[in-house]
Amino acid sequence: MIRVCVLISGGGTNLQALLDQKAAGFLPEAEFALVVSNRKKAYGLERAKAAGVKTAYLPTVRFDSNEAYNEALRDLLLEEKIDLVVLAGFLVVLGAPMVEAFKNRIINIHPSLIPSFCGDGFYGLKVHEQALKRGVKVTGATVHFVDSGTDTGPIILQKAVDILPDDTPESLQLRVMQQAEWKLLPEAVKLFSEGRLHVKDQVVQVDRS
Ligand code: GRF
Repeated sequence: MIRVCVLISGGGTNLQALLDQKAAGFLPEAEFALVVSNRKKAYGLERAKAAGVKTAYLPTVRFDSNEAYNEALRDLLLEEKIDLVVLAGFLVVLGAPMVEAFKNRIINIHPSLIPSFCGDGFYGLKVHEQALKRGVKVTGATVHFVDSGTDTGPIILQKAVDILPDDTPESLQLRVMQQAEWKLLPEAVKLFSEGRLHVKDQVVQVDRS
């Protein structure tokens, strides 16, 4: 059994997808040990409490720098003996202290098919606005390991979602979540928890045997 920490800043629908799959018996090897938010009012904290998962509120204002925040987060997670960190809409940049302590043990969900519509400034609705503006006909979501860059780490899973002619950023965001994010993230956690993800030369090999 591995101990999982989910980091959130907002609504936490991806967190909910994980908690639902845990309750449904899909994640027998993963224990949700902790949910951390940098925002006090993040609704995801309520979702965690409702599922009986321990929560922590760690605001950035308590720290002088992003590095100091990352050190405090790292220390908290090491204290809690966390094996896997899941970023599910966490809007604080993860820096060296976290990335080095949890190399290939942090996963992020991004609402596009990386390497499209990713990197600095591509978060939330902005990702979908840019996809619509460019006129792509297919978008999707990506789960990847986190390295020191923004959305540059090894790709674990991707799923495509069609763009419809009358999509708005909001309708597209919802469909990408429903059809891709809420499925991919539990699947990635399951694969990790069962030791089926192997990273070689920045490429993830998924053991499906
Ligand atoms: C999702 O779109 C995810 O891809 C992105 O942030 C959003 C979080 O949504 N990284 P929620 O808080 O899980 O509802």
